[in-house]
Amino acid sequence: MAEVRLVDVEKRYGGFLALPKQSLTIEEGEFLVLLGPSGCGKTTTMRMIAGLEEITSGDILIGGERVNDKPPKDRDIAMVFQNYGLYPHMTVQQNIAYPLKLRGVDRKAREARVRETAEKVELGALLHRRPSELSGGQRQRVALARAIVRTPKIFLMDEPLSNLDAKLRVSMRAELKHLHHELGVTTVYVTHDQMEAMTLASRVAVMREGRIVQLDTPKKIYSEPADLFVAGFIGSPSMNLVEGHITGGRFEAPGVSIPVAAAERGDVVLGIRPEDLELTTAEAPPIRGKLYALELTGEATLVTLREGATSICARGPAEFEAEIDAACALAPRPGARIHLFDKTTGQRIAA
Ligand SMILES: Nc1ncnc2c1ncn2[C@@H]1O[C@H](COP(=O)(O)OP(=O)(O)OP(=O)(O)O)[C@@H](O)[C@H]1O
Ligand SMILES: [Mg+2]
Repeated sequence: MAEVRLVDVEKRYGGFLALPKQSLTIEEGEFLVLLGPSGCGKTTTMRMIAGLEEITSGDILIGGERVNDKPPKDRDIAMVFQNYGLYPHMTVQQNIAYPLKLRGVDRKAREARVRETAEKVELGALLHRRPSELSGGQRQRVALARAIVRTPKIFLMDEPLSNLDAKLRVSMRAELKHLHHELGVTTVYVTHDQMEAMTLASRVAVMREGRIVQLDTPKKIYSEPADLFVAGFIGSPSMNLVEGHITGGRFEAPGVSIPVAAAERGDVVLGIRPEDLELTTAEAPPIRGKLYALELTGEATLVTLREGATSICARGPAEFEAEIDAACALAPRPGARIHLFDKTTGQRIAA
């Protein structure tokens, strides 16, 4: 267990600025998720912490100690690589056992520990296969097992569940969450999947083009996204974002007129989540349009309306039915959260 600090760290690849100068403190025992689109610098950040990638400037501290010049093997980190990084000539058993062998754990203890870990990731029956004889999802679980077979100071996990089927992904997620609860090891976890980020993280760092644009608890990221990018990235289906203007205490856009507590201004974007909207039969509904699509998800129906350039999705009841192109109306649910953003800067406008 250790705190990890990046102080004024910058990373360039030749002339390309991958990560602009910034600082980040990952608290001892924290589960920090790096979330962001492809190419935003998540793997680079992890590899710098692991010592596998040189930093261009700044300092990295682990447990208060500057580790810039410390080789990876001396940092006491267990890492799950995005490309698995398994030893092809070793069996599953040998791959998982390797970190224990390196640390001189005796054969008997090693075997017991490997078996127990393999069961956790549902690989108990495949211990004698080689990586080339496994599916992608099985290989990924070997990589995960190799990381969690021992208790390091820090776990670094780069998309460790990306190749698993939906069901296994959810059960492995719970496994990881439990493991973190049990061991309390400082963990940095990379994912594209906002659901994984929300469910696992103590804090989420949302990254865009190398920059951390918001660092907050999942709850805060969901309820108070700092800008349009975060607003659109978190939540499924994503937050409705409607361009319009505020006049006379109302937000106005084609088909939309919603009371808001904000001063008169143009060029704003109103955000409201599908789960914060409901169908209404009110005389003068806040949102009107023609029904564009109905999608049954099982527990709900996603109802999409269109009016001019405005498209809005609401989470309606599973039993809702209507004809496509029928007139349809929506209203914010009682207590719904309405977000406002500056259209030009993308920044959240304080209520
Ligand atoms: N060795 C390298 N040389 C030059 N540019 C690199 C190198 N490695 C990464 N980059 C660039 O740095 C940026 C960040 O890459 P990184 O691998 O950290 O992204 P990522 O967020 O992990 O993306 P993904 O989700 O696709 O894995 C990208 O623009 C990438 O092209
Ligand atoms: Mg990556």
